[in-house]
Amino acid sequence: MKLFDVYPLNNITPVKAKDCILWDENGTEYLDFYGGHAVISIGHSHPHYVKAIQEQIQKIGFYSNSVQNPIQEQLAENLTRISGYNDYKLFLCNSGAEANENALKLASFHTGKDHIIAFKGAFHGRTSGAVALTDNPKIVAPFNAKHSVSFVEYDLEEIQKIIHEKEVAAVIYEPIQGVGGIILPTDEFVQKLREICTANNVVLIADEVQSGYGRTGKFFAHQHSNIQADIITIAKGMGNGLPIGGILISPEFQASHGLLGTTFGGNHLACAAANAVLEVIEQENLIQKADEMGYYISRALNRYQRIKEIRGRGLMIGIEFEFPVDELRKNLLHKHRIFVGNAKSNIIRLLPPLTMNKAFADKFLQALEEEIVSHS
Ligand SMILES: Cc1ncc(COP(=O)(O)O)c(C=O)c1O
Repeated sequence: MKLFDVYPLNNITPVKAKDCILWDENGTEYLDFYGGHAVISIGHSHPHYVKAIQEQIQKIGFYSNSVQNPIQEQLAENLTRISGYNDYKLFLCNSGAEANENALKLASFHTGKDHIIAFKGAFHGRTSGAVALTDNPKIVAPFNAKHSVSFVEYDLEEIQKIIHEKEVAAVIYEPIQGVGGIILPTDEFVQKLREICTANNVVLIADEVQSGYGRTGKFFAHQHSNIQADIITIAKGMGNGLPIGGILISPEFQASHGLLGTTFGGNHLACAAANAVLEVIEQENLIQKADEMGYYISRALNRYQRIKEIRGRGLMIGIEFEFPVDELRKNLLHKHRIFVGNAKSNIIRLLPPLTMNKAFADKFLQALEEEIVSHS
C-alpha cells in the first residue's frame, strides 16, 4: 500500500534527534528552528521526558476514561499552577482541531446559540467542526459543518454588528495567528473584545494550540493582553510530540456525563508525557528563556536588509520578506541544514524548541544573512 500523498515532503529522513538537533540516516546534522510545527517545546528526546514515558509504558499505557486516572489529575494540577487559571477545569483530547471542536460545542451548549465569529486568516484545524472556521481557500469547509461562521477583520464595530444581528455563541481567535503569518491583534483590541463578549453572553475562545505552552514568554500568548478567555484550547507543544490536546474551561460551564467524550483523550501515556513537559518547562525556566531568546533573535534580525517586518512574541517569530521565500527556505535546509517554516509566500516562520540557545541562534542568523546577501 502506498501513502496517500497529501503532504509535500522534504527529501530528508530524520532518524535521531536531541534537543535542537536532528540527524538523518547518513549522520548529517540539522538544526531545528521549526519543531515540527511548534510541537517540540522542551527539545527532542529530553531525558526527563524519555524516562517518564518509558516508566509509564512499563506500567500502563492506556485504559479508558471509565476509571480514575491520577495522572490526568496531576496534569490538571500542573496546568493550574503554571497557567494561573486556578478555578478552570480541564478536558483532554488528542489534537488541536479536536480541542477547538469541543470548545465550539461547549460554547453552543452553554449559550444555546450556534453562530461563530472567527478572524480572516485564521486556522483552527481540519476536523469538520474546526475546518469550517478556517478562512483558507485551499481548505474547503465540509457541507456537514454544524456552525455557521462569519470571518471578520480585527474590527470591533463589525463584530458588534454581527453579534446584534445573529445568535453568536462564540468568538474564537488565535492570540498570534500561526498559519496565517504570525499576525497579532493589539492588546487593546483583545481587551475590548473581551468586554463585548462578556456583555453579550458570547464565549471567548483563545486558540493557543500553536501560541501556547510558554512559547511567547508567557504560558499563554493571550496573557500578554491581560485578559482571561472563557475557553483555552491547547495541543502541539503539550506532549512534545506525543499527541495530546485539551481545553481549559471556565467555572461558568457546567459539566454533565456524556456532554463531551473521547476514547484516547487523556490516556495514561500522553498524560505522563504532558506532565514531564510541564516539569521541564518549570525546572529549566523555559518560558523566560523563550522570552529572552526571542528578543535576542528578533533584535538581531532588525539589522538585516530586505526584511519588511518582524512579528511575533518570544520564540514564535514571523519574518516577512520583500520577496518570495521558497528558495531561501530550501537553501536554509539543503545548504545550511536548518529547518524553518513558512507562511504565505513571503514569510519565514520560526517555532524552535524553547531550549534554543545563543550558539544555535547565531548559526541560524549567520546562515540567513548569507542567503539574504546572495539574494540581493
Ligand atoms: C492555531 C491552531 N489551531 C488548531 C490547529 C490544529 O491542530 P491539529 O493539527 O493538532 O489538529 C493548528 C495546527 O496547526 C493551529 O495552528
